[in-house]
Amino acid sequence: MYKNDQKYVYIRTFGCQMNEHDSRKIILILKELGFESTDEPENAQLILFNTCTIREKAHHKAISQIGRTTIYKERDPNTIIGVCGCVAQQDKESLFDKYPHLDLVFGPDQINKLPELLDHAQRKKRGLSVELVNTPEEYTFLDQLPEEVAPASSSFVSIMKGCNCACSYCIVPSVRGKEVCRSPEEIVAEIDQLAKLGNREAVLLGQNVNAYHSKRSNSSTKDVTFAKLIRLISDETGIDRIRFTSPHPKDVGEDLILEYGQNEKLCPHIHLPLQSGANETLKRMRRGYTRERYIEIVRGLRKASPDISITTDLIVGFCGESDADFQMTFELMEEVEFDSIFAFKYSPRPGTFAYEQLPDDVEKVVKEERLEKILALQRLISMKKNEALIGKDVEALVYSLDRMNRGLLTGRMPDNRIIHFSGNPDLIGDIVPVRVTAAHKNSLAGEMIG
Ligand code: 5AD
Ligand code: SF4
Repeated sequence: MYKNDQKYVYIRTFGCQMNEHDSRKIILILKELGFESTDEPENAQLILFNTCTIREKAHHKAISQIGRTTIYKERDPNTIIGVCGCVAQQDKESLFDKYPHLDLVFGPDQINKLPELLDHAQRKKRGLSVELVNTPEEYTFLDQLPEEVAPASSSFVSIMKGCNCACSYCIVPSVRGKEVCRSPEEIVAEIDQLAKLGNREAVLLGQNVNAYHSKRSNSSTKDVTFAKLIRLISDETGIDRIRFTSPHPKDVGEDLILEYGQNEKLCPHIHLPLQSGANETLKRMRRGYTRERYIEIVRGLRKASPDISITTDLIVGFCGESDADFQMTFELMEEVEFDSIFAFKYSPRPGTFAYEQLPDDVEKVVKEERLEKILALQRLISMKKNEALIGKDVEALVYSLDRMNRGLLTGRMPDNRIIHFSGNPDLIGDIVPVRVTAAHKNSLAGEMIG
């Protein structure tokens, strides 16, 4: 029910977990300003699009949605319409030229300016805030949760922001700025609070999480690496499960590999973006590792944690990728046998090195063929791996009711697989034993034990 004197915000989120998490922070700020969230834009006084620009398609999707919001302004000229996230950061004030009905444009590093920007907009002035904040002194992580926030089973926790890599295809460094790491004390305190509120799992977030490095304020000589941070979280908080996304292969240290063998709270899963299995392509992508090094990391991880699931991102049809290069990726997939993959056709992004300097010379149909080939291969591998789990007993963290409303619970296994089973909704937030009974392409089915 909508109340007359209540202000509502509608926020639509595109892109990665970082954006999802940012949207949550935005909603918390807006709650302090008296807003409630709504799923119906027609009932909102504030409409926000938190956008993604990783590929042209994502950019286009966001832009076309923004174009359609004129109807809300026509219906009520006092409706405030804003764009934030990575498209806002990339296109900046040009969005106002393109969409004169927009009131707000703010980048991912400017979320804390929202109260000021809204104040401007309410006085019929446009609000623009698109600076990148690249130093720890100036950047505030907005994660610290107020006590009244209802706990979920699993929560995202930012540990760093930005990316200092220079992957030639990637827009992220230019829209998310330089790496800034959050202090270990702040991270540990937040996770401990989350655990006390009933959370079982923390997902550490960052554009390049394993580049994390910091110092503890009470022992300024000791460096806290990413692996050490995981150790601190498991020793000093009551959280049961630790996950993270996304790491970069070039920053996987021996200490992280060892942690997988020693730390029961660190879930046996890593999403380790490979991008290509051909050294020539990796070099042009400026990834900073070779095919051989990637395989060595995989071997190390499997030695430390034999059941670890390894998932990845792949790009097909990058500039200059020959049939032989593509074949190297295909063969590496056969050798490594990823548990699942996300695969994309290369999409040139203005402002990146590849866009400026390397010809996008793989034909669209060839990109499509290559994408289809690796997806088909992965379907076989995923199915084979999922079937091998039938009959196994696993511990599932119950996240929610299943999205298809079949009266089932949805749980996540330590290795990140999704499993559906019947059970009492009161179990949401609990870790329960489940026997795997059937395998599907992207999930498993099971029965609770005992
Ligand atoms: N074209 C296609 N895919 C891309 N990715 C990043 N930039 C591009 C691009 N320009 C993919 C990478 C990355 C994932 C988040 O998106 O695989 O890991
Ligand atoms: Fe999209 Fe990258 Fe921005 Fe995430 S960080 S929203 S994937 S452009």
